Amino acid sequence: MGTDALIQCRDVQMGYGRNVVLPDVTLEIHPGDVLGILGPNGAGKTTLLKTLLGVLPPVQGAVTYPAGREQIRFGYVPQRQVVDETYPFTVAEVVLMGRYGRLAPGQRTGSADHDAVACALRDVGIPHLADRFYRELSGGQKQRCLLARALAGEPNILVLDEPTTDMDLPSERAIIELIGGLHAERQLTILLVSHLLYVVLTLASTVALVNHTLHYCPVAQARDPEYLSRFYGVPVRVCEVGGTYLAI
Ligand SMILES: Nc1ncnc2c1ncn2[C@@H]1O[C@H](COP(=O)(O)OP(=O)(O)OP(=O)(O)O)[C@@H](O)[C@H]1O
Ligand SMILES: [Mg+2]
Repeated sequence: MGTDALIQCRDVQMGYGRNVVLPDVTLEIHPGDVLGILGPNGAGKTTLLKTLLGVLPPVQGAVTYPAGREQIRFGYVPQRQVVDETYPFTVAEVVLMGRYGRLAPGQRTGSADHDAVACALRDVGIPHLADRFYRELSGGQKQRCLLARALAGEPNILVLDEPTTDMDLPSERAIIELIGGLHAERQLTILLVSHLLYVVLTLASTVALVNHTLHYCPVAQARDPEYLSRFYGVPVRVCEVGGTYLAI
């Protein structure tokens, strides 16, 4: 294992209390990696992300941050939106929440924070929704808003748990292009769970196939139809169209 890893796990057990979901996770995340995480429902993908983020303690072993935890700013888009809809937050207010982690205790938000919010809303293509109430948005618009909230914190690791849920085809494509662009322009490290095989096979540099065990391999290996067929237990075909890897 190398030494420039941002996140490192060796033989870590992940799960909830005595319920071990992933018994033996060994992996490293390096700067600029795009880790695509694939696997069926209930396989442990979200569990893996939460444990790497440090919000879920490992059952056994430790997740370490060799470069120092203070070097890492996570931007997390959870699988299901978690904004309390009881309160009438506007989109801009929800995105501003992404700045809170950068503020000292008692510090108020300032112009840099509001500029970052405007920039994040532009990045995800919804500046016109800034003053709308979050709870009145469509599912896909909410998802973009939550991506903006993650970007507003200027993360160096973007953690996306099924970021295209509820999106129509043009929106899905736009978000995927945005994620690819963020990686290309800002060398962002990205952890991405998606059920869309083509997204993972096209964007990822490394793939984790999760099904209570974790197989960790370069994307070239995961594009092998036989490898995917064995993993999913059904025949999978992969073809490349203009640089995009389609799997059916
Ligand atoms: N808070 C929790 N407490 C106890 N068990 C949980 C909890 N959250 C998830 N689990 C269990 O852990 C296992 C893995 O769940 P996880 O959410 O990681 O799956 P997933 O791969 O993300 O699935 P999906 O594709 O449906 O999102 C499941 O059996 C689930 O029931
Ligand atoms: Mg999940």
